[in-house]
Amino acid sequence: MNPHDVIAAKNSGKSISTTDLYSFISGYVEDRIDDTTMSGLLKAIFDHGMTHDEIYTMVDIMIHSGKQMHFEHLNEYVCDKHSIGGVGDKTSLVIAPLLASAGLYLPMIAGRSLGHTGGTLDKLETIPGFRADIPLDEFQKLVKNNHSGILAQTSEICPADGKIYALRDITGTIASVPLIVGSIMSKKIAEGIQGLVLDIKVGSGSFMPTLDEATELAEMLKEVGEHFGVRTDLVYSNMDQPLGRFSGMWCEVREAINCLSGEGPKDTMAVCFKLASKLMIQSGKAKDETESDSILNKLIENGSAYEKFEVMTAAQGGDLNEAEYSPSYTLDIVAETNGIIQSMNTTEIGWGLVEMGCGRKHKDDILDSSAGLECHHKIGDEVQAGEKLFTCFCNNKERLKKGVEKISNTVCISSEKVELSLFYN
Ligand code: URA
Repeated sequence: MNPHDVIAAKNSGKSISTTDLYSFISGYVEDRIDDTTMSGLLKAIFDHGMTHDEIYTMVDIMIHSGKQMHFEHLNEYVCDKHSIGGVGDKTSLVIAPLLASAGLYLPMIAGRSLGHTGGTLDKLETIPGFRADIPLDEFQKLVKNNHSGILAQTSEICPADGKIYALRDITGTIASVPLIVGSIMSKKIAEGIQGLVLDIKVGSGSFMPTLDEATELAEMLKEVGEHFGVRTDLVYSNMDQPLGRFSGMWCEVREAINCLSGEGPKDTMAVCFKLASKLMIQSGKAKDETESDSILNKLIENGSAYEKFEVMTAAQGGDLNEAEYSPSYTLDIVAETNGIIQSMNTTEIGWGLVEMGCGRKHKDDILDSSAGLECHHKIGDEVQAGEKLFTCFCNNKERLKKGVEKISNTVCISSEKVELSLFYN
């Protein structure tokens, strides 16, 4: 196989054969194909897409680039939740312990920051000592004992996704249906799960801003899930503004803890409960959303959900007693006029957070655990000129300034009433 011929064929609209795709991806994982050549293929796929058969093949190759987990010996439902990426999205941090405390098993492989969106692992690693990069055997034991754990994509599991994910992040090839499907579904299928719920974010902070784009992606994700025997449910949730009150690093973990302790923001709780209910119903633990909500509320009220979070983080070396950050620098962004918040440019808010140390512009960028923002108002709120919209914080004055510059003009205010619905289905 000549990689340049494969790229040229894709660029002329032809599909790639199974053998060529296998040689290309395995060659990249084994360092026989370099980043520049792989970027050529990613760009060609980004521009010309892939057929359904090519996508199935790519997912299969990515799964088999590493090992797969097996949980057949557990007599319980094994499942997971995954989001296509957003700003302020800490739902995995809430759903994994919450459902684990309900008796489900969730061997969750989570991601790092991608483009303007935050990464569950980066947030979790703000807890001193927390290890996401653990051997697969050890991880499977943790899941057996604690019902859940949160693992990074490692050299053992889906290494193809690990390398491609990092390259997509710096080559402008993130928002591509086949590449997102390959990335998400290879990891999820390799987990050995029976069921999955996908949080399809739609709106100004999503890789899929319109419902049409999001639907195309969602249907492909579901089709691949079912093709590989994983029952897959979809929830379309609104990403026109950051989710919750806080977005960033440790501040999101703290907000997730609030959610698990019954003090979470309404929007975050609603998205978590909706996603969790799909898995409660799939597993037979609840007959409908109302029953699921009532079971999950009890687990929060009696402390089981938060206790599970403590057990899970401790099992992966995290010391919650040591996790508190007081950022050295803080700046407020205020409303320039009176009126009602109409919209937010949430992708730009995400890029502002990246500037402040919550994400990467280059592979080796160092993140800042103290960084983030507090969102004082949401779309539909009435504000007065001079009133605080966001408080931004981090440990580096220059980075804070750059972040604030990006976030400053992201809110549109006028006199019209607006109502935003949290879900599209
Ligand atoms: N989450 C992933 O794991 N991969 C993507 O490409 C997007 C979101």
